[in-house]
Amino acid sequence: MKPESKFWDKIADKYAKSPIKNMDAYEQTMSRTRAYLNKESRVLEVGCGTGSTALLLAPELEHLTATDISGRMIEIAQGKATDQAIDNITFKQAPMPDPSLEAKTYDAVLTYNTLHLLTDLPGALRCVQKTLKPGGVFISKTPCLKEQTSLWAIPLVLARLLRLAPYVNLLKFADVDRAIASAGFEIVETGLYPAPLNHFVVARKISSD
Ligand SMILES: C[S@@+](CC[C@H](N)C(=O)[O-])C[C@H]1O[C@@H](n2cnc3c(N)ncnc32)[C@H](O)[C@@H]1O
Repeated sequence: MKPESKFWDKIADKYAKSPIKNMDAYEQTMSRTRAYLNKESRVLEVGCGTGSTALLLAPELEHLTATDISGRMIEIAQGKATDQAIDNITFKQAPMPDPSLEAKTYDAVLTYNTLHLLTDLPGALRCVQKTLKPGGVFISKTPCLKEQTSLWAIPLVLARLLRLAPYVNLLKFADVDRAIASAGFEIVETGLYPAPLNHFVVARKISSD
């Protein structure tokens, strides 16, 4: 497994115990996400962490595959699904881009708080585009740290050198929108949940490949 997984393995148990920071923004994100899903939806969640979102959405879907680069995150998520007797989620340790994803498989792909952590964003978005069915939707929410101040970069680079922080891509909203559109999507909705940095995007796959 890739070296990026080590950081997330190490913090997974602490992450599992940390409460959602802004519940109103989370509920808004979930409400806009639910508008694109139904009982027949087959969904992939990328960077599922300890599975909190997957466990909430799965009972409203046909099936959810939830992946994460961290084996420990997946272990915790699977434990919670077993405890709650939710049996329509497949948790899988996998990186993004994930070469094992098959073409035209999912009605929707979700990723919350993860796109800015990917070292190969264009490759990941091509992979998402390929695995969506024609007309399928990609739903993401991404902290865009470059919208605020470039001073983020200094502590982040230092923390990264000391292995106290993961790789973080400092993005602007327009960088995310451009990368998504370049991978073969039409953006249908955007929002800020919460403002000022967390950029919510829903984009529809435009090709039939
Ligand atoms: C900030 S957490 C977000 C977790 C969850 N989506 C949430 O909103 O609480 C980022 C997650 O992305 C995962 N991740 C980081 N890089 C990844 C990659 N290249 N492929 C797949 N998952 C990755 C981490 O292991 C971590 O669980």
